[in-house]
Amino acid sequence: MITIRPARRSDKDEILSFCTNTFSWGDYIDRVWDYWYTEKNGQLFVVESGGEKIAMSHVAICPEGKGIWLEGVRVRPDHRRSYVATRLLTKMLEYGRRKGARQASAIVGATNFASQSLMEKNGFKIISKWMYYSIVGTPRHQESNARIANADDIVDIWQYLQQSKIYRLSGKRYVKSWRWYAFDRRALLNFVKEERVIVTGRPIDGIAIINKCGYWDRANILQVVYLDVVPASSLRELISFMMNLYLNGKFDGLQLVCYDSKQLSSFINKLVIKEHEQFILYNKQFKL
Ligand SMILES: CC(C)(COP(=O)(O)OP(=O)(O)OC[C@H]1O[C@@H](n2cnc3c(N)ncnc32)[C@H](O)[C@@H]1OP(=O)(O)O)[C@@H](O)C(=O)NCCC(=O)NCCS
Repeated sequence: MITIRPARRSDKDEILSFCTNTFSWGDYIDRVWDYWYTEKNGQLFVVESGGEKIAMSHVAICPEGKGIWLEGVRVRPDHRRSYVATRLLTKMLEYGRRKGARQASAIVGATNFASQSLMEKNGFKIISKWMYYSIVGTPRHQESNARIANADDIVDIWQYLQQSKIYRLSGKRYVKSWRWYAFDRRALLNFVKEERVIVTGRPIDGIAIINKCGYWDRANILQVVYLDVVPASSLRELISFMMNLYLNGKFDGLQLVCYDSKQLSSFINKLVIKEHEQFILYNKQFKL
């Protein structure tokens, strides 16, 4: 018999003891546990069996309130293939429904076939594929005509997005702290207000959304959290702008998370890349 319940502060050490070598590079649960435990708009779950803690997961309510984000599903290796993760997914979906959500999303590494199979078996559909790049080295300072968008650009940017293939294919999402949220008009207005939208061209022919505050315990990372551009010359402008920001801002790292298109990746692959990984974005619409 297993029990799924909200996490307690005292669960941490036992759970972390089997969340260490989950992936080839380790795991990140130790970096997010305290944050997830105290996060108001969400729930951290723990699974118990015979007095032992054998699994965990976290569900977060997305800012627009219509969706939930599923993350951090971990099952202790000796308890796998017994539908523990399936039960956790069901629990998180129930939680979302109770909170008025209409859909659930999650991201899975492109080489994590067990997890992909888990998602698909539970009715999740692939909505897009994304690439993560960590860019290093000391790139040369290059001139760029890209600029920070202001309120006068909003109509033009929104029009551009409505016609953009990349916007449609990326599931109309942007990334924040490894969660993919709806990139709607309201999000755009906030991004512009926060001076986080970089554009090229008049009329606009390229957009990058940036985040200067990093994520979790890594506050000094510059990130591109949405990238949408077709002409190679405009992509170069946007990347040069980012490089200059990175160098002048004395950030510890530059990360790029963007829709996985051949045209974007062939250019980005020319940069000095420390690591890269492909991710699959899954979504499940709730039946009303
Ligand atoms: C992925 C993981 C959460 C699955 O947990 P689990 O409790 O073993 O999964 P379930 O028993 O509920 O499996 C349900 C279905 O998922 C698929 N699945 C699960 N593990 C699988 C594996 N190792 N290989 C292939 N398919 C697998 C199967 O379709 C399975 O149904 P089946 O047993 O009838 O074939 C677990 O292996 C784990 O903790 N992995 C490391 C962490 C991780 O990858 N988390 C997800 C990050 S996105």
